[in-house]
Amino acid sequence: MQNLFDTDGEIEALAPGAMLLRGRALGVDAELLVAIEAVAKAAPFRHMVTPGGFEMSVAMTNCGAGGWITDRKAYRYTAEDPESGKPWPAMPAAFLALAGAAAAEAGFPNFVPDACLINRYETGARLSPHQDRDEADYGHPIVSVSLGVLATFQFGGSKRSDPMQKVALRHGDVVVWGGPSRLAFHGVLTLKDGEHLLTGRRRFNLTLRKAF
Ligand code: SIN
Ligand code: FE2
Repeated sequence: MQNLFDTDGEIEALAPGAMLLRGRALGVDAELLVAIEAVAKAAPFRHMVTPGGFEMSVAMTNCGAGGWITDRKAYRYTAEDPESGKPWPAMPAAFLALAGAAAAEAGFPNFVPDACLINRYETGARLSPHQDRDEADYGHPIVSVSLGVLATFQFGGSKRSDPMQKVALRHGDVVVWGGPSRLAFHGVLTLKDGEHLLTGRRRFNLTLRKAF
């Protein structure tokens, strides 16, 4: 399934160590969506609660050896889905392959993620600016894959007060950040109503990380 925006295939530098690879997931988009469906069958999407007591508007699930969760206690990685008590579903081979290739293209060779957070956004969902810092070793990059309805991604610096740039992320886009950008604040603005042929009125995001 091709978008055929004229930027597909381009690399856009967002900051040192942070790159947007336009359209890199287009060749495997259908495969990724089938795999997301299979993961969600075993570990359904759910709206988690933050330690502060807020229910997240983004619905989440995980696959891989570790899954990122939040509850009233803390943000953390767990080996089991707390809803079922069973291990998170295995990381699909297509996720590993795309993450490794995208990280290498962005200058981070040999990236092997062991955790994938899958975010599902419906109209009105948003993710406020945060750092990904629950992982053991910040030497590994983050690989983020966008599927479905277009979203506005915010990407800033390592301080919350640093200015944030806004970037439109389309179906098939991949963002990689590591090195000097590993702890950059990032977020997603409120998803506007929209439609994509493969996902309907939703956006999915895969966040691939080496957590352990
Ligand atoms: C995240 O930071 O976990 C998700 C980012 C995105 O949805 O693009
Ligand atoms: Fe994040």
